[in-house]
Amino acid sequence: MDPYRNPFAPGAGSRPPELAGRDGILEAARISCGRALKGRSSRSMMLLGLRGTGKTVLLNEIKKIAERDGLLTSKVEAPEGESLARLLYPEMRKVMRSLSGIESAKQIATRGLKGLRNFASIFKIDVGGVEVGIEPELGLADSGDIQYDLPDLFTMIGRAAQAADRGWILLIDEVQYLSEADLSALIVALHRMSQESLPVVMVGAGLPQIARLAGEAKSYAERLFLYPGVGALDKKSASTAIERPIIDEDASIEPEALQTIVERTQGYPFFLQEWASVTWNNAEGSKITFNDANQSYTETLALLDEGFFKVRIDRLTKAETQFVKAMSDLGDGPYAMGDIAKAMGRTQQSLGPARASIISKGMIYSTDHGYLDFTVPLFAPFMRRQN
Ligand SMILES: Nc1ncnc2c1ncn2[C@@H]1O[C@H](COP(=O)(O)OP(=O)(O)OP(=O)(O)O)[C@@H](O)[C@H]1O
Ligand SMILES: [Mg+2]
Repeated sequence: MDPYRNPFAPGAGSRPPELAGRDGILEAARISCGRALKGRSSRSMMLLGLRGTGKTVLLNEIKKIAERDGLLTSKVEAPEGESLARLLYPEMRKVMRSLSGIESAKQIATRGLKGLRNFASIFKIDVGGVEVGIEPELGLADSGDIQYDLPDLFTMIGRAAQAADRGWILLIDEVQYLSEADLSALIVALHRMSQESLPVVMVGAGLPQIARLAGEAKSYAERLFLYPGVGALDKKSASTAIERPIIDEDASIEPEALQTIVERTQGYPFFLQEWASVTWNNAEGSKITFNDANQSYTETLALLDEGFFKVRIDRLTKAETQFVKAMSDLGDGPYAMGDIAKAMGRTQQSLGPARASIISKGMIYSTDHGYLDFTVPLFAPFMRRQN
């Protein structure tokens, strides 16, 4: 069918034509935003899920909801090896400046900007001369310890937002790349917001290990956050995600075609968008048949192998690639470290550094039971296809 009319949206962060199966998460986010605005204690959220399940799409959607509800919004992605101070500085500055333009919040926000100036100088953030004219104030967010300074700045934003009858939502993608100290500071800051009922909430997203990392950083993190899982879609949602966009384009799909896509993708959003997209392009008539879907499978896998899967493996060193290859040769996960070591003819201890490095690259994670598994769904079969 006409590729120009193809509704599907394969690709990182691309909004799907039908955001299926996520109503519960969106509703929880809506409630958190609404409560924050009303000055009621509201829960921050951490969306936890494997690669390609739709976390970034959800963050973008929650940002839109929050904007509609009148909150100030900031969205950032934690890059590997970047400090939280540097990441958040421009966002906090934007929010404070915007609040300083509101009469009722002006005084607090202006003080906040002074604190921010101290913060930038103590954390050596290059501000490019933009702070000229703002006098520093001693003792405001200038300890140089992010665990003290970040909560102070959040408090200032929270109070200014409260005075202006506004709120602030901070959206952070790829939270697993934050250092432990930074994650701790963020949790302390949010804890303060919740204790003082200030209108600041965070919605973070990242790989499943964040729940444990947060708990290790601060034991009360468990109660501070909601941790909705963002997983594969159930059968009904997966069907809706495929069928509704097709119907909206005045086309249709045979039940057998729908069924095969739903089953063989196991409901994984990244896979489903790619396959539905290829099938649409290959279909001759306006009714997508089982044959259209079936014959598009190989092309879909090739696209994923060259794109979605390949970008992950390209980040690994040779030794790390051997490690994940040994994992995939054992079958589908989760995997015991002892089995991997045995398959590689190595000791577990000697593999420690490779294991840690692959985890820090976000490629594998340690499950609740201490096993290892891939963060990319269906990665083991991909590795086996490479031979
Ligand atoms: N609820 C949904 N229904 C159908 N498709 C979806 C849904 N959510 C996301 N998708 C599709 O899944 C793909 C991956 O989405 P997204 O990039 O948000 O995943 P992610 O979890 O952020 O992945 P990563 O961990 O790699 O960053 C996109 O093509 C998107 O359109
Ligand atoms: Mg993402």
